[in-house]
Amino acid sequence: MNFRALLLASAVSGALFSVGAQAADMTIGFSQIGSESGWRAAETTVSKAEAKKRNINFKIADAQQKQENQIKAIRAFVAQGVDAIFLAPVVATGWDSVLKEAKEAKIPVVLLDRDIDPSGKDLYLTAVTSDSVHEGKVAGEWLVKTVAGKPCNVVELQGTVGASVATNRKKGFEDGIAGASNVKIVRSQTGDFTRAKGKEVMESFIKAEGGGKNICAVYAHNDDMMVGAIQAMKEAGLKPGTEILTVSIDAVPDIFKAMAAGEANATVELTPNMAGPAFDAVIAFKEKGTVPPKWIQTESKLYTQADNPMAVYESKKDLGY
Ligand code: AHR
Repeated sequence: MNFRALLLASAVSGALFSVGAQAADMTIGFSQIGSESGWRAAETTVSKAEAKKRNINFKIADAQQKQENQIKAIRAFVAQGVDAIFLAPVVATGWDSVLKEAKEAKIPVVLLDRDIDPSGKDLYLTAVTSDSVHEGKVAGEWLVKTVAGKPCNVVELQGTVGASVATNRKKGFEDGIAGASNVKIVRSQTGDFTRAKGKEVMESFIKAEGGGKNICAVYAHNDDMMVGAIQAMKEAGLKPGTEILTVSIDAVPDIFKAMAAGEANATVELTPNMAGPAFDAVIAFKEKGTVPPKWIQTESKLYTQADNPMAVYESKKDLGY
């Protein structure tokens, strides 16, 4: 045990997490949401690769989209005495008691890609996420600029109800279009971040909006739902990418394929490498007592058809999507 590091960490953060382990003998548990999207699958693959690079014994528990499974997994990791826990929280609320248990066991928790309610702020070491309000805003601003003053009815495919990223991406988009009275959200429903639901909900939007004639653009909180929506539009005889504009989030390879085919217009990138910075933060904390910032922010880059989508597709397709 490195007492200087322990004293330093306790003094700076007031936390009681134990420090002193070396990366090579560290065991870290990851409570992953599931595999609802291509992005999620890539995050799992990239996390394993990042763990291997650092010689970390990495255990992943797949919660199959259920918070109760995530809570069970965290309790199991605590019982095993892991060195740290990564959590991708499916929803933002309901974590306080299980995270208190981890804190009492002196096991630092790092949030990956989604946030929890502010009541839980003292219960985790750091969160590695993008600014998901900003992502939505970038999407909204792109649309406002692209329609250049023409009236535009938007249908929105939301992510999982209660997920921080769904709440934030909705808010950000609304902020992005706030100054443009010509751009209006006319329908908004959850597609749960999946292709199948995205397609199903888009079919109902098309039916409700004059066979699609009244829809100018689709905004989806992730690319997988957009890929499903594109399929629904094509089956209804519509032309996504030209008759109906699309903007979504993640930047998975399939959306670049659709962009190259002229069937999708824009996407905002979310890196699948959340675990790399999280491992580095835990290692520095455990080995040197370095307390990371409460938020390690990842970048959000906008891609459009002008960005050579086929080349981006090629560069991403082996990342585990
Ligand atoms: O939390 C990140 C989101 O979760 C991704 O945008 C989406 O594809 C995933 O399922």
